[in-house]
Amino acid sequence: LVLAVQGEVQGPLRVAGVTTSKYFMPHLLGAFVRLYPGVRPSLLVTNRAQVLQRLAENRDDLVIMGQVPQGLAVEAFPFLDNSLVVVGWADHPLAGRRNIPLRDLLQERFLSREPGSGTRAAIDQAFRSEKMSIEPYMELGSSEAIKQAVIAGLGISVLSARNIRLEVEQGRLRILDVCGFPMRRHWYAVHPKGKQLSRAAETFLAFLRTEGAALLEEKRDASTSSPAKSKRGS
Ligand code: PGA
Repeated sequence: LVLAVQGEVQGPLRVAGVTTSKYFMPHLLGAFVRLYPGVRPSLLVTNRAQVLQRLAENRDDLVIMGQVPQGLAVEAFPFLDNSLVVVGWADHPLAGRRNIPLRDLLQERFLSREPGSGTRAAIDQAFRSEKMSIEPYMELGSSEAIKQAVIAGLGISVLSARNIRLEVEQGRLRILDVCGFPMRRHWYAVHPKGKQLSRAAETFLAFLRTEGAALLEEKRDASTSSPAKSKRGS
């Protein structure tokens, strides 16, 4: 799909995204610049607190986040589903149990993102709404580090399902069936209200909304199909 005349869409495209967006934004930007080679993208990946700050200062063309901020005048466009799931290592004792009460997680070594992380805020909120709070066993400043720590058996955690597909398929991580999870959220592209978007940013936003989810599904299908099959399909 060509959303705009190629030659008219060029120049810088500055995007900032929360850390968990690093698993899919490069793929979406890659597909976009194949359509519009004159666009020069940049992607800053940082946590929610930093992204919020940048949004307030109008530093980027678009920011990508997992929850629309309250108290800032913004326009937000959901373009992708985002499920947060509880994960444990391959042979975790809770793996295979059904409907695990949230309360049972209080007995586990819980690995937590740093304060300022949107994922952490969502988890804290889930416990608060059940009148509980979870004390992190260990704090790690990156979702990738948490993933590796769970695989290593250091503890359990909550991660975005998009970030762990491969490891779940390989049997290195297990999704635990905890009540209240998966927590279903969305990814949003956000900009300050009334912002005049560049042609590149406006076209990228339209691309995310019309093509984003389907593109990532295609990529997933290609990576899980057999080499012979993907060859035929190409
Ligand atoms: P985070 O944000 O990378 O700061 O945890 C993710 C989110 O808000 O979904």
